[in-house]
Amino acid sequence: MVETLRVGIAGVGTVGASVMRLLARQDAALTARTGRTIRVTGFSAREREKERDADLSGVAFFDNAAALAASPEIDLFVELIGGAEGAARDSVETALNNGKGVVTANKALLARHGLALAALAEEKRVPLAYEASVAGGIPIVKTLREGLAGNSIDRVYGILNGTCNYILSRMETEGLSFEACLKEAQRLGYAEADPTFDIGGFDTAHKLAILATLAFGAEIDADAISVEGIERVTTADLKAADELGYRIKLLGVAQRTPHGVEQRVHPTMVKKSSAIAQVMGVTNAVTIDADAVHELTLVGPGAGGEATASAVVADIADIARGVRSRPLGLPRAALTKVQRVEMQRHEGGYYIRLAVYDKPGAFAGIAGRMAERNISLESIMQRGRPIATGDKPGGPVPVVLITYATTEKLVREALDAIVADGYVAERPQSIRIERE
Ligand code: HSE
Repeated sequence: MVETLRVGIAGVGTVGASVMRLLARQDAALTARTGRTIRVTGFSAREREKERDADLSGVAFFDNAAALAASPEIDLFVELIGGAEGAARDSVETALNNGKGVVTANKALLARHGLALAALAEEKRVPLAYEASVAGGIPIVKTLREGLAGNSIDRVYGILNGTCNYILSRMETEGLSFEACLKEAQRLGYAEADPTFDIGGFDTAHKLAILATLAFGAEIDADAISVEGIERVTTADLKAADELGYRIKLLGVAQRTPHGVEQRVHPTMVKKSSAIAQVMGVTNAVTIDADAVHELTLVGPGAGGEATASAVVADIADIARGVRSRPLGLPRAALTKVQRVEMQRHEGGYYIRLAVYDKPGAFAGIAGRMAERNISLESIMQRGRPIATGDKPGGPVPVVLITYATTEKLVREALDAIVADGYVAERPQSIRIERE
């Protein structure tokens, strides 16, 4: 007789309903693949009666996620509520404490409490799976943890937020404003409830914290990540990047350095010829540099009901067939402390855009401030027409500089000096160039 795996789903929104539909659609295949029948026997949601694109007939309703998590009617708890605290955290802890495995799509919960939850799962000897929490439908957790177990990873980086990539893509290809593109992303349902989470880089940081742990065997530490969002990227930057052979992407990067693992989220210039630069719209991508495979890039849907449900169902299937992976790759006690690397130590090239007053000696003065700090310039060029200020047409001129590899500290110092010298009319823009 085929043994049934009884699943409880907390949160039946877009992803939850997609999980229900996918389980029904793939029922026979999942039974064949896992050797068990998978049945949703309980669900919890804020509202019991709501128009949902899923068949919940015969599924027991719980008005409280933790009660569902503790129910003897389920073997496996699927958390799709979201948020680092409250009902999501309570119910996941309850499930683990009751000896039930957990599948979650909750990046914020993992980024904040992943260590404690992994330790609890280990203690209770139950699975904790979270493939859907990073890059939606891309199986990146499994790739890093199992697929690349024979590699030493040097860098993992990616486009982990569809909303930001959608905004930057549309600003670049259609010259639309940041605000118009954000509105459209919200209308299409890509953005988080509070879009500052997306555009401020925090959603990317949560996902990066998880990837960094899997790649480098260090404790999850979202606070060790330096985070900048895309709010200050302008269409002028995207146009200049295009002319120089680059695209601008919001990347999450975790990289081994002599000082420790550098973890950062910021707008980044990437060579147009790179795999990651080809990724446009809401699509996500993750590239891994590792000693044996060299470079591996996974590209796919990072959000959306079906794509996220694909990852949730894969985790459910793993648990049904009895696969037991350590949630964070290593035993909790073997994870090392994160050595925080200050951004000031970051090394790389920089794109700098300045609004320079059109007066003799300005270029020489700016180049001099760079030279004093041994910052070597790959190019310096005037881009576009003088910037109109108020009703005066002939204001400062936009100037773009590209530096060779230097350090963040020296670039900051040089820009401060340039501002203090009075050469520029506004705060300089600088965007880090990611090495290939
Ligand atoms: N708001 C997220 C994004 C959804 O735009 O990618 C998936 O985490």
